[in-house]
Amino acid sequence: MAEYTLRLRRYDPDSGNAAYWEEHTVELEPHRSVLEGILQAKNRYDGSIGIRCSCRAAICGSCGVRINGQPDLACHTHLGRAQQHSQDGVIEVEPMGNMPVIKDLIVDMEAVHWKKIRRVTPWLIPKQPVPEREYIVPRENMVDVTQSMACIQCGACVSDCLSMEVDPEFIGPAALAKAYRFVGDPRDDQHRERLEDLAEDPHGIYDCTHCFQCIDACPKGVAPMSQIMRLRRRAGNDFDIEDRNNGERHEASFVSLVKQYGLLNEAELLPRSYGGDSPLAKFKPAAAAELASSLPVIAKALLRRKVTPAAVFKPHKLPAADRKAIKRIYEEVEGRDERREFNIYISGRDEDLT
Ligand code: SF4
Ligand code: SF4
Ligand code: FES
Repeated sequence: MAEYTLRLRRYDPDSGNAAYWEEHTVELEPHRSVLEGILQAKNRYDGSIGIRCSCRAAICGSCGVRINGQPDLACHTHLGRAQQHSQDGVIEVEPMGNMPVIKDLIVDMEAVHWKKIRRVTPWLIPKQPVPEREYIVPRENMVDVTQSMACIQCGACVSDCLSMEVDPEFIGPAALAKAYRFVGDPRDDQHRERLEDLAEDPHGIYDCTHCFQCIDACPKGVAPMSQIMRLRRRAGNDFDIEDRNNGERHEASFVSLVKQYGLLNEAELLPRSYGGDSPLAKFKPAAAAELASSLPVIAKALLRRKVTPAAVFKPHKLPAADRKAIKRIYEEVEGRDERREFNIYISGRDEDLT
């Protein structure tokens, strides 16, 4: 038995008082969970501490909180480990981010998370006619969607999504991972419709900035960002969906600029994203109109020297030998008969990546 001090974030929006921190010391073995610590504090000192939980076994997803600043399941985090990762020996627990607080450690999942899950039509729309006997799904398809099926809807990824912080309308990592669960399922009849919808939505698949936060946050290895990238590959490569948000053109330009110069040419990226993947894109009227509307962004990029006027006329390049090596990588990948998707969730071994 050891002593652990928990610093809990308390807040009751109905009280009209500001949020505050409160400390309680609990006695438990190091392998017991932070949730058990909170429940002991609630039983011993203050029954009004708000925390949501049910299974206590990392299955139901209800006890999502931030522990020492990181989103996690309170029932899945050992007290001993949480103390080691704390800054001052005190385990800090606060509600998840990007969702309004209902009370103390309980956030309003309905207002954000569940609303977004419903947005992606989270059920199978079966192909017709439905077979009389069971519909046999090929093993590789099942392996492909198993990772997104592992989601327990805890909201940890939503809590730390940087895009959602900037754009609360972003559909977000959990809902988009759920969307892939049906786009990757051969029994579903609406793959194109689903992908068009998610690509055309200004808050859809191209609103993710690849920050990896959701991959780090997820306690179930769902890797929502990887599912979003799969949705993009299906939309752009398999269904040739050119979205109005310039997302597909932006990705294509990124790829071809690195192939051409060996590294990204920022000055070319924006015009190509707007006008198509060609050096002449900037002269297209549609691109000019969009570039004009992006003048504040361009001015900021110039001020921060992300783009320099010199780079517009004389783009930086890697030496020829390095560019050749990069082109060889492209030839190797583009020369494959079919795209390979690695599912680390299932294989779990580095050698599977070779
Ligand atoms: S990778 Fe994308 S979805 Fe995931 S947290 Fe970052 S912005 Fe959000
Ligand atoms: S993807 Fe992971 S972090 Fe996000 S809701 Fe599902 S289980 Fe939780
Ligand atoms: S209580 Fe169910 S996941 Fe923690």
